[in-house]
Amino acid sequence: MDPLGSDLVGLRVLVTGAATGIGHEVARAFADAGAVVAVTDISARIDEAALTTGAACAFRGDVASEADAARIVAGAVASVGGLDCLVNVAGLQIVGAAEEMRADDWDRLMAVNLRGPFLMCRAAIPHLRRSSRGAIINTASVAGQRGGPGSTAYSASKGGLIAFGTALALELAPDGITVNTICPGWVDTGFNAPVIRLMGGREAHARIVAEGVPLGRQGTPADIAPAYLFLASSGARYVTAKAIGVDGGLYN
Ligand SMILES: NC(=O)c1ccc[n+]([C@@H]2O[C@H](COP(=O)([O-])OP(=O)(O)OC[C@H]3O[C@@H](n4cnc5c(N)ncnc54)[C@H](O)[C@@H]3O)[C@@H](O)[C@H]2O)c1
Repeated sequence: MDPLGSDLVGLRVLVTGAATGIGHEVARAFADAGAVVAVTDISARIDEAALTTGAACAFRGDVASEADAARIVAGAVASVGGLDCLVNVAGLQIVGAAEEMRADDWDRLMAVNLRGPFLMCRAAIPHLRRSSRGAIINTASVAGQRGGPGSTAYSASKGGLIAFGTALALELAPDGITVNTICPGWVDTGFNAPVIRLMGGREAHARIVAEGVPLGRQGTPADIAPAYLFLASSGARYVTAKAIGVDGGLYN
């Protein structure tokens, strides 16, 4: 039995970072479940991703830009007739020791990983208020729960996003809008290439994953996507202000 049944049919969902990786899979899974999906990404690949995910419409833009965030949300709302669920997946990874990190890199990481979700939420909230199923799902990381060497900026951005989500959940609870944060562990996408280099290459990384992840392997985007569908479902209306690990037990 499909525990979500026809629950997501017709749900109006906007997914950021949907050109590749986790965001692409999340958009595809929502569309497969019958949701009406709008996708967005900074990458030119977003138009092709609209076809491969089954999305109704696609918008290219930078979530860290105030003008782009407003344009994307307005465009999605106009195209799909409103908004029930905002899914923030877009993210950036820059690694390096704190003492060597350029302030510009720090600022860009914070802009994409923290300011971006804020701007998208701010633009979406008035529309989510009009929905009976308003939900925001942000994407942080195990790195935001427990940092590691070489990831001070990334960890700070994702830790900040978890705190942002909790505070926003409390702010929007009177409106019946839920806000939750997914914290993936190691997921096999192109995203970790700089981290894997920092760790000494693919073999060293594979050893670290095998020893450090209780379930013994990296996740795939398909391992992560179902948690988003659950949080958008009517069965999750009593779940809010949570950071939920989908990480093979890595953070415990
Ligand atoms: N892969 C992992 O191991 C892992 C682990 C924990 C958390 N995450 C988080 O999951 C999310 C997705 O990561 P992924 O692994 O699918 O990586 P990915 O690189 O495949 O996807 C990230 C997407 O975000 C888009 N993007 C980047 N900057 C943007 C901007 N300014 N505006 C709009 N779009 C932008 C990229 O173009 C890309 O399509 C990220 O937020 C990442 O921090 C990933």
